[in-house]
Amino acid sequence: MTEQPELTTDRLVLRRPRLRDAPRIASLLNNFEVTKNLARVPHPYTINMALDWLVRQKREWSPDMVTFAVCDKHNGLMGFCGMHREGRTAEIGYWLGQPFWGQGYMTEAAAAVVDWYFQTTGANRIVSGVFYFNTASLAVQEKLGFVRTGIGKRICIAQNAEIDHIETELTRDAFYKALETQ
Ligand SMILES: CC(C)(COP(=O)(O)OP(=O)(O)OC[C@H]1O[C@@H](n2cnc3c(N)ncnc32)[C@H](O)[C@@H]1OP(=O)(O)O)[C@@H](O)C(=O)NCCC(=O)NCCS
Repeated sequence: MTEQPELTTDRLVLRRPRLRDAPRIASLLNNFEVTKNLARVPHPYTINMALDWLVRQKREWSPDMVTFAVCDKHNGLMGFCGMHREGRTAEIGYWLGQPFWGQGYMTEAAAAVVDWYFQTTGANRIVSGVFYFNTASLAVQEKLGFVRTGIGKRICIAQNAEIDHIETELTRDAFYKALETQ
């Protein structure tokens, strides 16, 4: 298996995670304002949890199981964006440290990951979703061409609760159409 590729955008570098990212990840992710939006991240969040997670990121990667550290020149590591397989379809997930919200970074990062995913695989569709209160993430997804497909329930570990979850999907056609209109 080749090395995980590095993706670049106008402002960002999306690179393979490294063990030495653990302290930075813990400092950004030990924030309930971030983790309350994520399904599988506990709160509080420690450096050891970050290390465990980084160790579990296998050396072997595939387009359906990959995580990119979202970095820029000035701020270094700001968050993560990755794909993982949910049943037969790949799902995109992401988070950004709170100081970096609202500057278009995740729209830029997720667009690069989705473009790379569609170019690398034969897939015509990916899925995602947001907890019902996460308007910022829904806005990111709608800018990329995602549409809502229904409402389900998902456990949120940080909130220790099962929460209404808006399910979304993105087709290859809708994504490239959305890119053209940006
Ligand atoms: C969701 C998240 C990744 C967005 O990243 P970001 O870089 O701030 O997103 P962008 O700046 O690219 O886009 C955010 C969009 O949401 C909009 N937005 C932000 N807060 C909003 C709100 N409260 N209501 C409606 N829209 C909102 C912004 O206006 C922007 O849209 P615009 O460019 O059309 O103005 C970031 O807030 C985050 O990491 N949150 C915590 C973790 C998380 O929610 N992860 C996703 C789980 S599904």
